[in-house]
Amino acid sequence: MRSRRSCLAVPGSNPRFLDKAQGLPADEVFLDLEDSVAPQAKEQARKNIVEALRTGDWAGKIRVVRVNDLSTAWTYRDVIEVVEGAGDKLDCLMLPKVEDAAQVAWLDTLLTQIEKTIGLPLGGIGIEAQIENARGLVNVDAIAAASGRLETLVFGPADFMASINMRTLVVGQQPPGYTEGDAYHYVLMRILMAARTYDLQAIDGPYLQIKDLDGFTKVARRSAALGFDGKWVLHPTQIEAANEVYSPAQEDYDHAELILDAYEHATTVDKRGAVMLGDEMIDEASRKMALVVAAKGRAAGLSRTKSLDTPA
Ligand code: GLV
Ligand code: MG
Repeated sequence: MRSRRSCLAVPGSNPRFLDKAQGLPADEVFLDLEDSVAPQAKEQARKNIVEALRTGDWAGKIRVVRVNDLSTAWTYRDVIEVVEGAGDKLDCLMLPKVEDAAQVAWLDTLLTQIEKTIGLPLGGIGIEAQIENARGLVNVDAIAAASGRLETLVFGPADFMASINMRTLVVGQQPPGYTEGDAYHYVLMRILMAARTYDLQAIDGPYLQIKDLDGFTKVARRSAALGFDGKWVLHPTQIEAANEVYSPAQEDYDHAELILDAYEHATTVDKRGAVMLGDEMIDEASRKMALVVAAKGRAAGLSRTKSLDTPA
């Protein structure tokens, strides 16, 4: 599992940002050709992105390019120019505003053709699918199953709110008048179920009030609590917060590793399926929960500070 706690948006039309992003501690960068780039700047942005991927130092980061959505005229040239120009320096393409499985299948086929033509490993470039309108959400299960290249489903709150006529202009915050519960709970859960069913990561979208770090952290904690793997970040100050929110706490990580050790010992040495760890009873289901936290902690680079022999 590769960590995607923080996924940094970088407009492809801005060489200064493309340069600066390389030094920031985001798990993923996505170089954008879509909504952060003006129509007149799209062609130059493709060139900037190819150049930045070819010559930049992106070590340790997942490198993604977001192409334009399939209702535009730009998508096929985005894919061809970026992959022919820098396919060997690219981990995934992100397809925005995905509405059905056929759109993902289209991208899969085009990628296969380019990989064959220029001699890249077949299937090497992954796909991230943004779910950001009503049709995409209704079809999310089929979208998640559409290609072996898929790595993540990404919630796009701004476009989504527009698509369903939600009565607010503030992304990430509850719509005024909705006083009970969380207006995004259904959407997040729906995306999460599809992602887990098909073994994909689930990524939360942007929080646009970049000065409001508390607001960002609060919204991030909500999706992290449900099980989301990470969130978009638009500004360096949001990166650290996302890295922290989507990593397990050290204490939880240590606890998870202890459960795995204790359970392993119980089942192999003592030949028992349920045992006590301190005051807690653990069994096979505890092991499964612990595996998730341990995997996220390891991917986030945590190291354990306790072992079964450590005095409590
Ligand atoms: C992201 O693309 C969004 O629409 O929120
Ligand atoms: Mg969008």
